[in-house]
Amino acid sequence: MRINKKSAGVAASVAVLGMTLAACGGGSGSGDADAEGGADQVEVFTWWAAGSEKAGLDALVGVFQEQHPDTEFVNGAVAGGAGSAAKDLLQTRLQAQDPPDTFQAHAGAELQDYIDAAQIEDVSGLYDEFGLTDAFPADLVERLSTEDGAIYSIPSNIHRANVMWANPAVLEDAGLDTSAEYEDLDAFIADLEELDEADVTPLSVATTWTQVHLLETVLLADLGPEAYSGLWDGSTDWESDEVTGALEDFETIMSFTNADRDGLDWPEATQQVIDGQAAFNIMGDWAVAAFEEQDKELGTDFVAVPSPGTAGTFDFLADSFTLPVGAPHPEGTEAWLETIGSLEGQTAFNAAKGSIPARTDADPAEFSEYQQTAIESFANDTIVSSLAHGAATPVATLNAISDATSKFTTGASDLDAYQSELAAAAQG
Ligand code: GAL
Repeated sequence: MRINKKSAGVAASVAVLGMTLAACGGGSGSGDADAEGGADQVEVFTWWAAGSEKAGLDALVGVFQEQHPDTEFVNGAVAGGAGSAAKDLLQTRLQAQDPPDTFQAHAGAELQDYIDAAQIEDVSGLYDEFGLTDAFPADLVERLSTEDGAIYSIPSNIHRANVMWANPAVLEDAGLDTSAEYEDLDAFIADLEELDEADVTPLSVATTWTQVHLLETVLLADLGPEAYSGLWDGSTDWESDEVTGALEDFETIMSFTNADRDGLDWPEATQQVIDGQAAFNIMGDWAVAAFEEQDKELGTDFVAVPSPGTAGTFDFLADSFTLPVGAPHPEGTEAWLETIGSLEGQTAFNAAKGSIPARTDADPAEFSEYQQTAIESFANDTIVSSLAHGAATPVATLNAISDATSKFTTGASDLDAYQSELAAAAQG
């Protein structure tokens, strides 16, 4: 796991590099960090287009407008959870030399795709200019950097993927433990069976990307954090019996989910738990914003726990913002990136979005009870990389895993074929 292998050396080299780039001016292309012009507007490309995700973006825009009143915010959001539609459209625009002024990208392998394709600029000069060099955990900066220490985006937040949301009233009606804590998947599946007897959906899920999200939490539970991480660096064999066992569990768990799943996105699946139509939903902690938006109280109206069998592990992802090569309004981008990195921007955004600040100097008291558990877990637990949210694999690998998963869950392939397709996808 790269994020645990941080070293003082990385922090030091980042600091030195920041100074060197500041001295040299940095950047090269027309959209580089020193380019001039375009301060009048910034087109911000995200997939935070509706509901609680838009509310998070709106909170950020509020701070942006205070900090940069002369730069117009142009909303380039494209609907579809986890960037399921946005990422393809973005690629089309980047290849047509029509980039937005900045776009959302996940820290880790996904960002590396844009770096390798020379689609984004080194913004390490801005780290120096905005005083960000020490603001973020060194291992997070490492995921935004190349080996020679150039830094390619500014992180806005950290989300936890392995969270299970439960409706305690539904559990109580079925005579189950309302804590919703499960040490392993066997215990979880036993309760799904109980719930199946009642008139509720045991576990709600939505379209393909949410099924891949569920798959990653099942792999994590059955393999444990080390072998799960090994899936992404080749040290865990995708064809092993352990992976077969995890895929069998995935198949069993999927059999307790809602039939209309493929037509839904995450908000509708989470809403089923909020409304008491489903007992459980496994989703990243952007879901907490949906509960809070509807005045639901943690502990009373809903519970949030590590997904079954994953206590002690924080399944990590982070959003970050870039300066695309050839961005039409590079000064607008710089203004946006300044707000993204600022303490005020991170506090307002994350309080609304359900994530925790990437900055290490934010005050935990500014955040909800759930978020305080995430802050604690991020500080103390084992960190692994999310598959469904760009931390663990390049976009092409995730797309191949998603296609294989969709085939499997719609009955177009059997478990053997699914496992082989996953193994092939992981090899790239
Ligand atoms: C993730 C993203 C989160 C949230 C989620 C659901 O990929 O990092 O910020 O937007 O998708 O759309």
